[in-house]
Amino acid sequence: MPQIINLSSKIENQLPAELASFMRLAGEVAQSQGQSLYLVGGVVRDLLLGRTNLDLDLVVEGDAIDLAQRLTEIKQGKITTHPRFGTAKLRWNKWSVDLTTARSETYAKPGALPSVKPGSLNSDLSRRDFTINTMAIELNPSRYGELIDRYGGRDDLNHKLIRILHEESFIDDATRIWRGLRYEQRLNFQLERNTLKLLKRDIPMLDTISGDRIRYELECILQEEYPEKVLHRAEKLNVLQRLHPSLKGNGWLAEKYEQARQLFSPASPPIGLHLALLAYPLTNEENEYLISYLRLPKSLAQILRDSISLKAKVELLADPELAPSGIYHLLSGYSSTAIIANSLASDSPIARQHIKLFLDKLRYIKPALNGNDLIRMGIAPGPDIKEILERLHEARLDGKVSSKRGEEELVKGWISR
Ligand code: CTP
Repeated sequence: MPQIINLSSKIENQLPAELASFMRLAGEVAQSQGQSLYLVGGVVRDLLLGRTNLDLDLVVEGDAIDLAQRLTEIKQGKITTHPRFGTAKLRWNKWSVDLTTARSETYAKPGALPSVKPGSLNSDLSRRDFTINTMAIELNPSRYGELIDRYGGRDDLNHKLIRILHEESFIDDATRIWRGLRYEQRLNFQLERNTLKLLKRDIPMLDTISGDRIRYELECILQEEYPEKVLHRAEKLNVLQRLHPSLKGNGWLAEKYEQARQLFSPASPPIGLHLALLAYPLTNEENEYLISYLRLPKSLAQILRDSISLKAKVELLADPELAPSGIYHLLSGYSSTAIIANSLASDSPIARQHIKLFLDKLRYIKPALNGNDLIRMGIAPGPDIKEILERLHEARLDGKVSSKRGEEELVKGWISR
């Protein structure tokens, strides 16, 4: 008889009281509907590791939508359902929980999204990526809190190992290659020997995955606490090169990510900054290839384009004689994330100072007078107005004028000449 491990006290101690009591309630309601309910996946792994994780995934043997509807009434929450997949998301106050009908999956071909049909908890667990993610906790009242561990996930947690469930796992879904590296580096674990061997064997399968799915994995990585660790490991294993052969997960990147963390602390650096620093070694053409391969959304694509285009000019910013208006003209129009990326990437303290001046001050400076004021001063509408406004802007930037009165005097002087 395997030893029964009960995690109910971990649930009470590690999860917020509202979520812990929700789980008891959900188990009771499931029971009253004749269904079986389990907490599964990452949150179980993290409960055992003592790591915070509020992403509750519940699996129902039966019908998740029925259960979610009843729970939504009780909690007076909001529900979103996907009947085709048998899934529901329940939200109430600041909480949310995902409920999924237990399913089994088959992969029509490598890299495709799986076909899904209803199944048991066992079949649901057997289709998962790594043993540490296959554990579940019983939530029905008679067995509340009991750990279900079909694949030795707890042993692997204790031995700090990332292990796939079967030899074809990376072929079925090569995104697991990136996922494996992400868990390994996040948790300071190791890929188990055979898993590592199969991962290396199946690296070419990454080419079966759509750009959208690879982008999702990359976004997950760039939101890790230390993305550089995953990227470094990925480079060593020739996985990063599948994204683009010119990308580097090296010490330079690690140093820049560390500086970015310090700059944004206590918040985290934005994902676009991490991406721009990763893509920094690329040429224009390489960058365009990456943008279209990953089908980057407009905002991220713009950051990358700005960052690479600014890279060509950043040397000019290292000139100590550069006037504030010169700094402004070099930097205005670029996204601030791309500008910050270039500041971090630059070795020149002067360039960094100039960029800081732009971001802190120059970009907000505007002349006090506008076109209407100039017309009132007797200037004919037309190109002159634009030119005078630009000259005023420049004078403001370079500190040659600092008040509306002063601007008027300047303009009068220019007109009289
Ligand atoms: N899963 C999988 N194969 C994938 C993606 C997900 O088997 N390609 C399974 C894993 O069992 C995982 C669960 O689906 O635990 C939920 O996926 P996700 O939310 O991405 O994983 P978490 O473990 O919650 O990861 P994280 O801690 O990064 O959120």
